[in-house]
Amino acid sequence: MIEYGIAQFDRFLKTVIPNSASAAKANPAQQAPHDIEMDEGSRQHAAGLMRINHTGEVCAQALYNGQALTAKSAEARAYLEHAADEETDHLVWCEERLAELASRPSLLNPAFYGASFAIGAMTGLLGDRISLGFVSATEDQVCKHLEEHMVTLPEEDQRSRAILQQMIEDEERHGSEALARGGKAFPSPVKQLMTVMSKVMTTTTYRI
Ligand SMILES: [Fe+2]
Ligand SMILES: [Fe+2]
Repeated sequence: MIEYGIAQFDRFLKTVIPNSASAAKANPAQQAPHDIEMDEGSRQHAAGLMRINHTGEVCAQALYNGQALTAKSAEARAYLEHAADEETDHLVWCEERLAELASRPSLLNPAFYGASFAIGAMTGLLGDRISLGFVSATEDQVCKHLEEHMVTLPEEDQRSRAILQQMIEDEERHGSEALARGGKAFPSPVKQLMTVMSKVMTTTTYRI
């Protein structure tokens, strides 16, 4: 039990402390051309969007870790921990892009981690099938945000685009894997809570 608590705390620290996690896969931005001059407004806008996406990945880590904490079966717990590990790549890529854009992750990340962890743990209590259904619904929502960002990112920001494109592919796969594992629709209060939180997250982290 103590060991599990330490492992969870380690995951929290790696998520909220910049540069403390490392990616397993190469950053897709490496395939894109180096930055063409962006004007200050475009740079700030791109950084705002990438900060939102980074915090989205912080929330993903926290949701999965919260869900793993209260998962009913060892199998579901192992799957959720594996899913969280896969999201680490996204977290690191967004962090690296923020640095390239001469910006930083959101200062609100520890708070979003806490709130998401609580939602994740609560969802886990509703049972593994609902918890897996929640993964699929969350990934759907994430993909919608990412698609919007692909449209509103400055045209010349090929490097952020390359990252988001890979994230969209990965998130779609995460969603369908969760359904294939028996995920089913979860109660609408949790869904509403998610929508409210994602609104709060996207409006605050664009700047803060
Ligand atoms: Fe992700
Ligand atoms: Fe994902």
